[in-house]
Amino acid sequence: MPFSTLFTDNTGGVLTPYINQETNRLKNYLKLGGYDAAKKALAMTAEQVIEEAIKSNLRGLGGAGFPAGRKWSFIPKNSPKPTYLVINCDESEPGTCKDKYIVMGATHALLEGIIIASRAINAHTCYIYIRGEYVEPAEILQAAIDEAYEAKILGKNVLGTDYALDVYVHRGAGAYICGEETALLESLEGKKGWPRMKPPFPAIEGLFRCPTIVNNVETIAYVPFIMNKGAEWFAKLGSERNGGYRFYSISGHVNRPGVYELPVGTTLRTMLYDYAGGIRGGKKLKLVVPGGSSSPPLRPEEIDVKMDFDSLAAIGSMLGSAGIIAMDEDTCLLDMLMVTSRFYHHESCGQCTPCREGTGWMDKVLTRMMKGGGRLEDVSNMPDIANGIMGNTICPLGDAAAMPVLGYFKKFREEFESHAKFGKCHTGEFTSWKPAVKA
Ligand SMILES: Cc1cc2nc3c(=O)[nH]c(=O)nc-3n(C[C@H](O)[C@H](O)[C@H](O)COP(=O)(O)O)c2cc1C
Repeated sequence: MPFSTLFTDNTGGVLTPYINQETNRLKNYLKLGGYDAAKKALAMTAEQVIEEAIKSNLRGLGGAGFPAGRKWSFIPKNSPKPTYLVINCDESEPGTCKDKYIVMGATHALLEGIIIASRAINAHTCYIYIRGEYVEPAEILQAAIDEAYEAKILGKNVLGTDYALDVYVHRGAGAYICGEETALLESLEGKKGWPRMKPPFPAIEGLFRCPTIVNNVETIAYVPFIMNKGAEWFAKLGSERNGGYRFYSISGHVNRPGVYELPVGTTLRTMLYDYAGGIRGGKKLKLVVPGGSSSPPLRPEEIDVKMDFDSLAAIGSMLGSAGIIAMDEDTCLLDMLMVTSRFYHHESCGQCTPCREGTGWMDKVLTRMMKGGGRLEDVSNMPDIANGIMGNTICPLGDAAAMPVLGYFKKFREEFESHAKFGKCHTGEFTSWKPAVKA
């Protein structure tokens, strides 16, 4: 599919000008000043590069929002073991589809970011873990890596220095859990993608039990621009403690769904109405999922929130992977939550009992309610099941499954009660809306 139909380039942005059909070719990237930032970083000490990243307020954009420079600083100094950089392009959180465009268009910006981040943590090997379904992005990525090796940008003497760096693409096999960083590392080692207990964190004991930094594609793709234009410039683009721009994937019932690169901290209202064109058919907004399907939902009266990690946390939700899903007034939230819960049930790796069993229970209860067999006690039992999962699992997939249930039942309780009482949905009764499961 051409970029123009999927990517909405009306925001300026930092990376957006680098995302088109041309920029994934080395010669075109070089014309735009490509790899100057990597040359600069290779002439600096690791500490200086880390310092720059810290000052920029660049947060991890894979979901948790941990400050990137601080994470790099956790790599032990003088470890006898090799250090690895791992790039997370598993991108499986429903509602999120941004990394694909970066990999396909800003391919060399990502590779340049990899050189700089490797320099910061003294890694000489980098693995890019890309979801199996991303066939074309993986091919484009490999082609760019081949070009970079040929031009001696990667390999034994990176950009004419004595710094060596090898980059490998590893394709996943389609499991959401393999986006969780320790499951990803297990999978990369050729094992079943089961999350590890933390601590030790990957920075101390990661890939092959060696110090490892796992960063999201988008996090790393911003790094060359920070090195080129300076940490302060980047920090000022965003809001407090949340530097720069980021990519917001906006889907659902909006007029112009797309991936928008906007300053971190732009309000949700501006995103939905000024950029995504408002709710289609002139309908009213009913609910917004602000940060991928695992984030607690927001009601329409909450959309003046700034879309940064801290502002969303302050109102009990999360920015996560910035996958925004807006639903109109005709949406049956039981249906929506059932589909969401089924995803987490299907993707639970089964290692922890609360998640393995709890996600199944939630899926079953919601499906029964959807089929008209709801009971009033379901309305209080569902949050209890979710609370039994929350915080009781090795990895946050359990929390990811529990948070939407808790949020929907708290903020839209009356709708679930109505379903349980009357055995059917009143929301979409007089509209074209069709339930996923027939009553
Ligand atoms: C179930 C689950 C799935 C995840 N999927 C992804 C993913 O697809 N991509 C990603 O970058 N991070 C994902 N994460 C977050 C990673 O564990 C990790 O925090 C992230 O890759 C670190 O990179 P960052 O600091 O640059 O954000 C997931 C986490 C969980 C719990």
